[in-house]
Amino acid sequence: MQTLKWWQKAVFYQIYPRSFADSNGDGIGDLQGIIDRLDYLKDLGVDAVWLSPHYPSPLWDCGYDVADYTGVAPEYGSLDDFKRMLDGFHQRGMYLILDLVLNHTSDQHPWFLESSSSLSNPRRDWYIWSDGVGSNPPNNWYSAFGGSAWEFDPVTDQYYYHYFLKQQPDLNWRNPQVQEAMFNAVRFWLDMGVDGFRLDAIGTIFEDEGLRNQSAPVTQTELYRLVRSAKSPSERKWIDRVWREMYRHQHDLPEVHGLMQALRKVVDEYPDRMLVGETGMIEYYGNGEDELHMVFNFPLMDHTRFTPGGVKANQKERLKRLPPKAWPCNTLNNHDASRLGSHFGDGVHDEAIERIALALMLTLRGTPFLYNGEEIGMTNYLLEDIRQFRDTWGIGRYLTEIEEMKTPPDQALIYANQTGRDKVRTPMQWSNEANAGFSPEGVKTWLPVNPNYQKGINVRSQQKDPGSLWNYYRRLLRVRKENPALVAGDYQPLEHTPRNCLAYIRQSQGDGQTCLVAINYNAKSLSFDLNQCGKIKKTLFSTEEKHLHLKDEISITLAPYEVYLAEIEE
Ligand code: NOJ
Repeated sequence: MQTLKWWQKAVFYQIYPRSFADSNGDGIGDLQGIIDRLDYLKDLGVDAVWLSPHYPSPLWDCGYDVADYTGVAPEYGSLDDFKRMLDGFHQRGMYLILDLVLNHTSDQHPWFLESSSSLSNPRRDWYIWSDGVGSNPPNNWYSAFGGSAWEFDPVTDQYYYHYFLKQQPDLNWRNPQVQEAMFNAVRFWLDMGVDGFRLDAIGTIFEDEGLRNQSAPVTQTELYRLVRSAKSPSERKWIDRVWREMYRHQHDLPEVHGLMQALRKVVDEYPDRMLVGETGMIEYYGNGEDELHMVFNFPLMDHTRFTPGGVKANQKERLKRLPPKAWPCNTLNNHDASRLGSHFGDGVHDEAIERIALALMLTLRGTPFLYNGEEIGMTNYLLEDIRQFRDTWGIGRYLTEIEEMKTPPDQALIYANQTGRDKVRTPMQWSNEANAGFSPEGVKTWLPVNPNYQKGINVRSQQKDPGSLWNYYRRLLRVRKENPALVAGDYQPLEHTPRNCLAYIRQSQGDGQTCLVAINYNAKSLSFDLNQCGKIKKTLFSTEEKHLHLKDEISITLAPYEVYLAEIEE
């Protein structure tokens, strides 16, 4: 345990600043709101925070369209507020990492304003510009947010490339000046003391230099339709292949690795900083020490159902492929994905399923990332009216449905809610007061508050209830901290367990501790023998009151959805 770095031991918590805490009653979260909640975070037991973009932005993509990489969005506060927030984290022994958007800027960023001002502007080559082919775009590439990836600029009579929205032009990373400018921004935050970065969309940083056409057999709209109707795994696999073909010249080019190595060198000039990439690709660990410190285990999060077999297969595959010294990183939730209970729940046992999901995050080998609101079981909130949407992607999808696919409006709204991400970005539910205590009564919050805060899904009510999900989180976070094998130990799955049971051993020889993790994924109880791993020395945690004092057992009967953790003697 002693040899581990802070980011290997830490539990991270993602804060979506717009929705976390509104200190000045304008309906928008802000940095002072975060400062006011630092003790809350410390008490909950998280060690580090990933802050989604806090930079000035015209908000076409909710901050992922950055207009100034070294500033703070005025509605969130000032640079001084930022420094106070950072100090506040550090004073409490916590860490802060920022979101770094490398692939693109906002179209309002001064670099792009200059670049688009004339063909001869010195910054012209900072973005990807190209002539069209006749009256068509340079090629048939799509934007991930829908439509062509090219936008015509009538001022200079050329097209610019945008993998995401047209308000997010892609930088030309083949130009060394771009790298220098961005690395200066990186140094700016590292000099200030920020502990690292979550790197946004690294896979899309480079695209085929020759701008070759893709040759997917269907159009993007057809693919949307197919995604909707796909039922069998083989259909989904086919769609996956087509999707990869559609974007093959725009994704994960080898050049990204060189850039990650260069960025790692910059970060390594500073003691104890880290990088985590928004990618599931193990290749971005490089040799385990020369690219990213971590990448997310997205394949686990992408499972449609949560099963012991799925988790085991995922762990087997990932851990085997990790290069030496690489450290895993697990998450089931973020601002782009569905809320946990809404995604994995079965509509009846959602909270129990949320509990086993958290137990998994906190006991698998690797650094866990949690998402704000997960600790109280916030759920997806489906908006009732397209005018409430703030996610441009969701709105775009609605318009495509209506205009191109001729989908009836009520159905289009369902698809827009499914695709769009507003449903997981609603304000944090702090209490049972008006606006869930996020903003004062009467204030119109930037996204509507999910009314289920009145049904106990809020922090204050759950703090008072010893059996709540919030208290479960807090307890489990402590158990993890107190038991080094759960952090530093290796991972050995137990093979002879019932189908609905996931059990594994975490053993840390350096710490002289071996732990058993056993999770029942089912609404029925089930038993299994412990003789394949040893006998129980001490129960560390159980969701089942009567199991809290088990000792010396050689077999165990898990209650429905039970999470059971014990130290064992081999
Ligand atoms: C990934 C971010 O997580 C997402 O929210 C954003 O829309 C895209 N990258 C573009 O920056």
